[in-house]
Amino acid sequence: MPNTRIAGVGHHVPENIVTNDDLTKVMDTTDEWIRERTGIEERRYVTRGEDSTTTLAAKASRKAIADAGIQAEDLDFIIFATLSPDYYFPGCGVLLQRELGITKTEIGALDIRNQCTGFVYGLSVADQFIKSGMYKNILLVGAEIHSYGLDFSTAGRSVSVIFGDGAGAVVLQASDDDTGVINTKLHSDGTHAEKLAVLHPGMHANVLINKIDGFDEFLINFDYEDQPYGGLFINNEIVDTKIYAPYMEGQAVFKKAVQKFPEVIMEGLAAAGYGPGDLDMFIPHQANLRISQFVQRLMKLPDDKVYNNIMKYGNTTAASIPIAFSEAIEKGKIKRGDLVSLAAFGSGFTWASALLRY
Ligand code: UT7
Repeated sequence: MPNTRIAGVGHHVPENIVTNDDLTKVMDTTDEWIRERTGIEERRYVTRGEDSTTTLAAKASRKAIADAGIQAEDLDFIIFATLSPDYYFPGCGVLLQRELGITKTEIGALDIRNQCTGFVYGLSVADQFIKSGMYKNILLVGAEIHSYGLDFSTAGRSVSVIFGDGAGAVVLQASDDDTGVINTKLHSDGTHAEKLAVLHPGMHANVLINKIDGFDEFLINFDYEDQPYGGLFINNEIVDTKIYAPYMEGQAVFKKAVQKFPEVIMEGLAAAGYGPGDLDMFIPHQANLRISQFVQRLMKLPDDKVYNNIMKYGNTTAASIPIAFSEAIEKGKIKRGDLVSLAAFGSGFTWASALLRY
């Protein structure tokens, strides 16, 4: 059975730096509050109209492809994790194929809608495809443009100060050496689905809102010519309730995160016969520096065995782990042969870990 080797990594963040002080100009917040509660000092936002989630992903992907020493045409599968796709459909996977100039059709493209755990879930999917012998070169990318979809008014401040834009990618290759993915552990608990969510666009939100507002009458009078997207219409209720912007019960998410992170990391380590002391590097999803520090303390990991960059980039959701992974490798903090754990918790709730030898 082949191993799933991490053959190449790459990341890209927009040049445009937005500091906490910049945010104080549009909402009632302070640099002190944001640093104290989240550890974030600044984040990157794309210049409006210049980039899409796909073009950001392509920039990270080209680096990962070059790092792997292959050509884009050598890829036989693309996995794209994002919660901020260019379109409601089709997904970004096919858009990335086009953006990379891959014209062959002997390639598959899959989108993963798992928010913060999207990259780790994607790694698990890629690992199964490679170990089963189905594919040899898989591009896995996590990319987000949050800045196009946040509520920048004071009402949205607890969510909007956290998120940033960026992309990270890896090329996974079938290999017979002894490095690569050791195991992945995936979990979910849908009972908390609406605690961290964007409800619209979504058919369910339309029905709910219009029931309240006399949905039957609305349907009879519905002018489909004005609403070419079927159920995905916008009305005043959607605008007023801002259900197109992310909603989060921050403290509930925080409490579950600090419980599930250590559990899922330990699950992966124990399954492989390792303990936390064997790790060369732990890369947590960059949700909140306080969460990462809590987990680090619980697992008794020294500072040089945990990589955080949320201070510079904020929370980039599906992109946060591949950006941090790629940056840590670039800085020489992860070397070939190192034992690395990646772990994430987020919307769904879903949580997951991946243990690998780089
Ligand atoms: O990546 C996906 C997973 N996400 C996470 O894991 C995030 C988990 N949650 C968190 O990181 C934290 O809950 C937040 C950073 C989102 C929020 O921090 P918190 O300590 O839970 O704050 P809070 O929402 O409970 O708000 C506390 C106070 C409130 O004021 P009052 O009611 O005590 O007067 C808020 O209105 O802080 C206020 N507040 C702010 N003040 C200044 C909320 N956001 C801000 C802000 N600036 N940006």
